[in-house]
Amino acid sequence: MFNDINLDEIDLTESPPEEEPNRQYYFMAKCRELIRRKKEELGHPLSFCIKTFGCQMNARDSEKLQGILEKIGYIKSKSEMSTFVIYNTCTVRENVNLRVYGRLGYLHALKKKNPHMMIGLCGCMMQEPKVVEKLKNSYRFVDLIFGTHNIYKLAELVTVALEQNKMIVDIWKNTDQIVENLPIDRKYFFKSGVNIMFGCNNFCSYCIVPYVRGRERSRRPEEILEEIRKLVNDGVKEIMLLGQNVNSYGQNLAHSLRFAGLLEQVAGINGLERIRFMTSHPKDLSEELIEVMSKYSNICPHLHLPVQSGSTNILRQMNRRYTKEFYLALVDRIRSFIPDISLTTDIIIGFPGETEKDFMETIDVVEKVRYDSTFMFIYSKRTGTPAAEMDKQIPEEVIKERFNFLLAKVKEISRDKLSRFEGKIMNVLVEAVNEQDPSLMTGRLANNLLVHFPGNASMIGTILPVYLNCCNGFYYIGSII
Ligand code: SAH
Ligand code: SF4
Ligand code: F3S
Repeated sequence: MFNDINLDEIDLTESPPEEEPNRQYYFMAKCRELIRRKKEELGHPLSFCIKTFGCQMNARDSEKLQGILEKIGYIKSKSEMSTFVIYNTCTVRENVNLRVYGRLGYLHALKKKNPHMMIGLCGCMMQEPKVVEKLKNSYRFVDLIFGTHNIYKLAELVTVALEQNKMIVDIWKNTDQIVENLPIDRKYFFKSGVNIMFGCNNFCSYCIVPYVRGRERSRRPEEILEEIRKLVNDGVKEIMLLGQNVNSYGQNLAHSLRFAGLLEQVAGINGLERIRFMTSHPKDLSEELIEVMSKYSNICPHLHLPVQSGSTNILRQMNRRYTKEFYLALVDRIRSFIPDISLTTDIIIGFPGETEKDFMETIDVVEKVRYDSTFMFIYSKRTGTPAAEMDKQIPEEVIKERFNFLLAKVKEISRDKLSRFEGKIMNVLVEAVNEQDPSLMTGRLANNLLVHFPGNASMIGTILPVYLNCCNGFYYIGSII
């Protein structure tokens, strides 16, 4: 997208510039040369494969890594049999973390067969010193390890890795830098994530994200708006504004623009059909935001509003800084402005000290709010967070019982709620050919619900009116009218 700097015009006999992003363009030119030579030596093009674990932030980061790798001459592949394999890792819960170690064994076997293979690890897990220690001791075959703050330096890091035949580790504890105008390769041509801020200052007591993503930094509104305008010119219909807590956007900037104001400016961009955003912390959701959402038809009527627990006592222990009553009143306010809004949430089960009574408070919230869908997570102890030190960790069998009870409840509610659009005609952004049945297409309603309907691949990326025949629990079966 920003690929307007011509690498051929960069003089590699000069020393690398200090300022960014020019320094990275210098290394892209240098690296491209190294890759060209390697390609001649091996007699085939060099391929890369990035596997992404974790949330939309990581997915967006992977698009940035991909943009740089394509610029320096690597060819994209879906297979881990590639010359360069990168795992962009997540560590929000222990099970995601364990998956990475499991797959590394498989990569090692591939590398033994192909000595030219390069293995890179990046993302949130790499920001944990004990993980890097373990990799340095027991996973020596990994070539390149970097973190969340320096992904923009990929070309520079690959240059070093290609020149020196040893494990390269570059992890920064924190940063106040945001480097703009680097290449990005989008996964979808019709929709895109756009970072509006990085990091998190909330320190919910269970959560590792503030430790691995650093302090909150907002991008300047001019940069965000410019990026979105370019995306729209490029054919993008839907954008998702990304941040761990979008509602605190702008706190570190010199002017008074906050999230509601930014969203209003984004909604005014000509040709932008759909706007989503993730994630909203209930404590910072302003009245102005609700007003802006209700005013613009291109802002999707969907709000992901993680409650985490319905018990005020547990919420206090979680450092969420709102009560059950505050949350319920907020939901009422939102619905009074946008009655048909789709609300979704995250819930953690088995936070230390959660009693049966606390759990029933969560059930009460679920029954009162009646979410369109609920993402349920079993509490996972993350070393270094305050909750990991708390007494009364909950036994596994109790957690399982609560999980199943809540699951049955949310399924029943979702099934009932989601069917409210049956028999209506609604606009669908067509996203892909259905994986199970290639005669069907899969798309999304503005409220984020999935719809499958007979169609063909030429419809991908267009917005079409679809008749919603019936709701099958979590998705609709529809037909084009
Ligand atoms: N910034 C977002 C959440 C990012 S993490 C927010 O504040 O809403 C996504 C979800 O993972 C969280 O909402 C939470 O429900 C869950 N989560 C985070 N840490 C967890 C942990 N230690 N154990 C279980 N679930 C966790
Ligand atoms: Fe984690 Fe809380 Fe920040 Fe979300 S707001 S990323 S749950 S610390
Ligand atoms: Fe995971 Fe990092 Fe996102 S820990 S959830 S990838 S911010």
